[in-house]
Amino acid sequence: MFIETCIAPVNIALIKYWGKRDEELILPINDSLSVTLSTDEMCAKTTAAAASSFKRHIMWLNGEEVPFEQNPRAMRCLKEIQQLALAKEQLKFPIEWKLHIVSRNNFPTAAGLASSAAGYACLVYALAHLYGVQKEELTAIARQGSGSACRSLYGGFVRWHMGKSNDGTDSIALPVAPCEHWQDLHVLILVVNDARKKTSSTKGMQLAVETSDLIKYRAQYCVPQRTAAIVDAIKKHDFAKLAEITMRDSNQFHAIALDTYPPCVYMNDVSHAIVEFVHAFNKAVGEVKLAYTFDAGPNACLYLLERDVSIVLAAIKNSFPNDAEQSVEYVKGIPIACD
Ligand code: DP6
Repeated sequence: MFIETCIAPVNIALIKYWGKRDEELILPINDSLSVTLSTDEMCAKTTAAAASSFKRHIMWLNGEEVPFEQNPRAMRCLKEIQQLALAKEQLKFPIEWKLHIVSRNNFPTAAGLASSAAGYACLVYALAHLYGVQKEELTAIARQGSGSACRSLYGGFVRWHMGKSNDGTDSIALPVAPCEHWQDLHVLILVVNDARKKTSSTKGMQLAVETSDLIKYRAQYCVPQRTAAIVDAIKKHDFAKLAEITMRDSNQFHAIALDTYPPCVYMNDVSHAIVEFVHAFNKAVGEVKLAYTFDAGPNACLYLLERDVSIVLAAIKNSFPNDAEQSVEYVKGIPIACD
């Protein structure tokens, strides 16, 4: 039997990926840019094993069997890795051998926090190690599992370049700056209680491309300008600029979700209260010290500098006490991960 175990971190986008130009290859309509989080707090861990005795590919996610052979995205990732191994004649075992894959998240899946990003990044990385092709360009393969997964293969600040070619070979993630570049940048995750089932990111962005006018404007005009400006802000450690761009992009992404027909509503009342809280906090301290961003769900990711973590946590506990209606489930301080 051959066996490999890997871990992969979560990433949270400052400039969101939203909309595909190719559903199958997962090619986006805009660049996106994210921060990779520390694996201590949130990561996916995957063990992949190959053996002659295995009858079929089986995958277990958090202890439950999930479809693998019936999952076109997972099978595409596997095929791509196998092709690389075949091309390099690096096979450690016969290509026909079936796999057993066990994957776990060390954070609540119900929180809906970028679990597919860490999950697919980890799957691709584990498969690459198993088939002995780990030195290859893997972001273009992870992208085909889940778009945002391509950004979890690097630490620090990562940009997914949308690329132009139809075969997706130039749609890859590249590092913008390593985590050492801005070590005192921190993230707080505010998990907001929410029982309602949301439209998945995959479905939500598909509907947006079909029905939203705003999405075209964002992809064509706003994202290119914002991406250039945020890269500059990262290079210069300009937190206020980074914060403003991040918040504007999150707001515009959710405006697109509402511009979708029928609309996708991802944020709830507590999410909106967090937005208000952040702007009020920044106003009260007379400086932009805090930024929010929301993915396709009600949970908030707050960006701030390490020196402000304790004052912000105290203010959050004060504004969102645990017994109140507008409470947040838990709050964590998470530094950016290194590779
Ligand atoms: C809002 O990567 O989950 O988190 O490619 O269809 O699997 P698929 O979508 P996914 O979308 C993530 C969307 C987002 C923004 C982001 O992470 O950039």
